[in-house]
Amino acid sequence: METKNLKELLDDMSIEEKVGQLIQLSGDFFEANNISIGPKQKLGITQKTVDLTGSILNVTGAEITTKIQKEQMAKQPHHIPVLFMSDVIYGYKTIYPIPLGLGATWNPNLIEKAFQNTAHEAAASGNHVTFAPMVDVVHDARWGRVLESPGEDPFLNAQFAKAMVNGFQKDLAKGSGQVSCIKHFAAYGAAESGREYNSADLSISNLSQNYLPPYKAAVDAGAKMVMTSLNTLNGIPATADKQLLLDLLRKSWEFSGIIISDYASIFELIKHGFATDQEDATQKAFDASVDIDMKSPCYANNLAKLVADGRLSLAKLDEAVWRILTLKNDLGLFENPFNRVSVAQEKKALLTESKRKLARQVAAEALVLLKNKDNILPLKAKEQKIALVGPYSDSKYLLGMWAVHGNVEDTITIKQGIESYVTKGNLKVATGTDITRDYKMLKSMGYFSDEQIDQMISSEDTENKQHEKAISIAKEADTVIMALGEHTLESGEAGSKTSLRLPKNQQRLLDEISQLGKKVILVLISGRPLVLKDVEAKTDAIIQAWFPGTEGGNAIADVIFGKVNPSGRLSMSFPYTEGQEPIHYNHLVTGRPQGASQHVGRFVSRYIDAPTEPLYPFGFGLSYGKIEYSDFVLSQKEITKNETLKVAVTLKNNSSWDRWETVQLYFHDEVASVVQPVKRLIDFKKVFVKAQQNLTVEFEVRDDELKFFDNQGKLILEAGAFDLFVGPNSRDVLKASFSLIDKK
Ligand code: GLC
Repeated sequence: METKNLKELLDDMSIEEKVGQLIQLSGDFFEANNISIGPKQKLGITQKTVDLTGSILNVTGAEITTKIQKEQMAKQPHHIPVLFMSDVIYGYKTIYPIPLGLGATWNPNLIEKAFQNTAHEAAASGNHVTFAPMVDVVHDARWGRVLESPGEDPFLNAQFAKAMVNGFQKDLAKGSGQVSCIKHFAAYGAAESGREYNSADLSISNLSQNYLPPYKAAVDAGAKMVMTSLNTLNGIPATADKQLLLDLLRKSWEFSGIIISDYASIFELIKHGFATDQEDATQKAFDASVDIDMKSPCYANNLAKLVADGRLSLAKLDEAVWRILTLKNDLGLFENPFNRVSVAQEKKALLTESKRKLARQVAAEALVLLKNKDNILPLKAKEQKIALVGPYSDSKYLLGMWAVHGNVEDTITIKQGIESYVTKGNLKVATGTDITRDYKMLKSMGYFSDEQIDQMISSEDTENKQHEKAISIAKEADTVIMALGEHTLESGEAGSKTSLRLPKNQQRLLDEISQLGKKVILVLISGRPLVLKDVEAKTDAIIQAWFPGTEGGNAIADVIFGKVNPSGRLSMSFPYTEGQEPIHYNHLVTGRPQGASQHVGRFVSRYIDAPTEPLYPFGFGLSYGKIEYSDFVLSQKEITKNETLKVAVTLKNNSSWDRWETVQLYFHDEVASVVQPVKRLIDFKKVFVKAQQNLTVEFEVRDDELKFFDNQGKLILEAGAFDLFVGPNSRDVLKASFSLIDKK
């Protein structure tokens, strides 16, 4: 509708209608299947509020959304359509690998296409807004939500943030896109001790340099919504942080879209000790310019009163309502509230062959080959007797905790994937043990009834039988593929853990099988980096498969049998032990760096009971065939500000394998007024290098990439000595140095 008509609508709305637009309720208020991820709580709101609600959380499906839209519009005095918003985070029905796996592709363009497909599926099912991408930088694998993030580096996360927002929003005008709501603003990934919902406390320079860039990239890419995070940041709950939301997001970043609270986070201002009661919480969140209250009674029960008392201006309320009406108008919902949604359209859009094909390609690119002793992989499909052992060998639960709309029945299992390669009769399969036999841990997840847990943990007799079968098929096989990993609900939201190891029962099975003198290939299913120090030596090959999604089994088989040369590179460090967490590659040097200090022995920055370095570093991953890096050259030894430095490196592929290689470029600012990390990723290129080919890869380094943030949040460029590093990961690098000078 024309802007003037929209303005007339706004002016004609009652205060109750206006407040209704600022409320989001979940499906259970509308007799709809409610995939409510968050805590269930009685809200204490009136039916009138339900009738006037402006948006609905996590209800999808052409039929149900059309039904509810009709009902809600009939109840609305001005027949204002509702927005359907949902967690469509890494797929809708066609599920991709978890974002920590998507980050491992180092292929933002591919992921943009995947998210465009995802938007088509979700839009066909009546959804308008997706609460994604989550772009929080993550340093601590104890935090279960690392699953949802592209990884630990701000530059890499920023590339994915831009690609994911573009993917979601690309086809909005055609009615087959999704409004992208980026989250969680801000620095939720810095939760202290990796404990869920815990506080984040960061210096301004650290926050600005290492946590904010991905959100800024998403805003610059045109994300139309931002979700506030549940944590406090430097003592202020993000949901009421004026400096963060008003000064930085709205004013400095010029974000004019909608800000929505995370689930009940306005109400939780009281729990944080930041608000005295719901009225105070309402005032503080609204003053910080939070537009929509997700799943809390605060706005519903207090906004009108605060306006009536003159403690909130009607003009400010109208501004918030205007943002929501404008989004609905931009989506064409006033003219076409059903947005061309139909059951027939939905059926045509979901899980198509082409979408599955792309999911298979993405899943294969997300796999990270961590070990391949004596190049045991790829296997020759037809020549070996293979035993596939482990609780994930034929499990459909490969989707991960946040694939809330995915259906495990659509999943291709690892067994099915391998069967499509091997000669019939050459593959024997046994689960060998449960995913976990830890009753206490399953109970503590707060998701399963005792009866369900009893179903999940086999009787001793069954456990012994499946164990014996696994050992016996392993003994008869040439090669054993073990499909092990954590339970779906051990990661994702509220999945913080202090132990990052395989469940004890799985470790026992691996220990025993590793004694049989067979080649052991481990396929790991997890939503986070696991501690593999008790696993690494007992295997000949390790494939980190994440939760690989709907086509996971096919993708894993494609890599095992060499149809795809694995190119995944870790976007998050794998610790040697939990005690190292949080661990990340871009740490500071310290005054006593191990191996580079005038002090000797114990008096350097190290642990006395563990290595300092991770087991597998950021950017690490193997491929079939080896690439040699050489001739790392810079165009100049000195550059002035505003000059561009040209950089080149030569890759030699001496193998018989064509392959992708992600060339990573890092830098270090040797001396600065705020000390700088040992390395910072500044650029990367994923290039295709044919067998026996030499390839020169070039980069350009501009002065603005060498800037850093000071503790006033100011971006600074200082002359001085810089090092550049190039290589296949953040550890095995070639180094070259140059100086930035004020003027020649
Ligand atoms: C959850 C999550 C958030 C999600 C929201 C709606 O608590 O923190 O990521 O989008 O609630 O489900």
